[in-house]
Amino acid sequence: MSIKILLSITLCLTAAIDGKKYRYDYVYYPQIDGWLKQNDFPATWRQARLQCHLEGAQLASPLDAEFLKVLKTKSHIPTWTGIHSLFSKGKYNSIEGVPILRMPISWAPGEPDNHENKEQCIVIMPNGTFADVCCDEMFPYICYKKKFTFSMVSACGIVDTSYLYETRTGSCYKFHNHVQTWNQAYMTCDAEGAYLAIMNTALETQVLREIFSKYPTSKIYGRSEYKDDARVGIHDWGEAGLWTTIHGQSVDHLMDTGVISWANGQPNNATLNGLGQSCGGISRDGRFNDVWCHIPSSFICEKAPDSLEKDEDDY
Ligand SMILES: *[C@@H]1O[C@H](CO)[C@@H](O)[C@H](O)[C@H]1NC(C)=O
Ligand SMILES: *[C@@H]1O[C@H](CO)[C@@H](O)[C@H](O)[C@H]1NC(C)=O
Repeated sequence: MSIKILLSITLCLTAAIDGKKYRYDYVYYPQIDGWLKQNDFPATWRQARLQCHLEGAQLASPLDAEFLKVLKTKSHIPTWTGIHSLFSKGKYNSIEGVPILRMPISWAPGEPDNHENKEQCIVIMPNGTFADVCCDEMFPYICYKKKFTFSMVSACGIVDTSYLYETRTGSCYKFHNHVQTWNQAYMTCDAEGAYLAIMNTALETQVLREIFSKYPTSKIYGRSEYKDDARVGIHDWGEAGLWTTIHGQSVDHLMDTGVISWANGQPNNATLNGLGQSCGGISRDGRFNDVWCHIPSSFICEKAPDSLEKDEDDY
């Protein structure tokens, strides 16, 4: 066996181990020293950046010639890069802060044209040329995670150390103390390989209550009148009053079995401009409350430790 073959086997093994250790939805590319995830659902540049960020990654840019080659093979239609001039028109940098002149950019004919002075984000074309477009347009995008040592993945199977393993339930939890709407909260948990927490047992309700108690209102950041409520994974799915977990379990069942109970005076069935309270939260005593979906509040994500692991048969 030549040294060259030996070396490539070693490289493959390393890739497999590391690939397993980041997340199942990211693929390892040794030539760019990291993982990529292709997102085929078109999004605006801001949504794309946020999604990659919430996944612990960055919107990918062609940082060097090898990177450009890989991005080109993945861009079958125009695809966002992380190159933008959102902070100062015409000052284009990758999200990592690499200036555009340090990247291997060749423009498509007539580009960049800053059409109507409204174009501040850069897409890569299928043939590997680039164009500036309006950041509110919708394109698919690619997230990039630079390689790290796998000891950084915690017992919760994620690099984010704010997820804490709870032996009593076998789940990991993260209390998000920067307020968000219920839908943003759902998206955030989802990007972390988690979901808005669901109390399946009375013990789990107790666990959530204890987690909440570590965050007095002074530690909950952002504008919100509801700092004594934390959002959880309960919703009426558009059927007023038919409370159901986001995993399809009826809340009546959870109430009958004493897992949760209504907070005092709830449900109050409040309406505001014709909108009902369709989203679920818990108060500090662990009781259930119907809350406004659009009013920002803290929230709790729940994650199975193996939720981001590759399936064994992916090898
Ligand atoms: C690459 O694609 C762009 C946009 O489709 C096109 O205008 C341009 O002529 C192509 N350039 C090359 C070198 O093929
Ligand atoms: C809200 O509706 C539920 C059932 O639809 C009812 O049991 C409850 O009493 C109502 N709450 C108020 C404050 O009217």
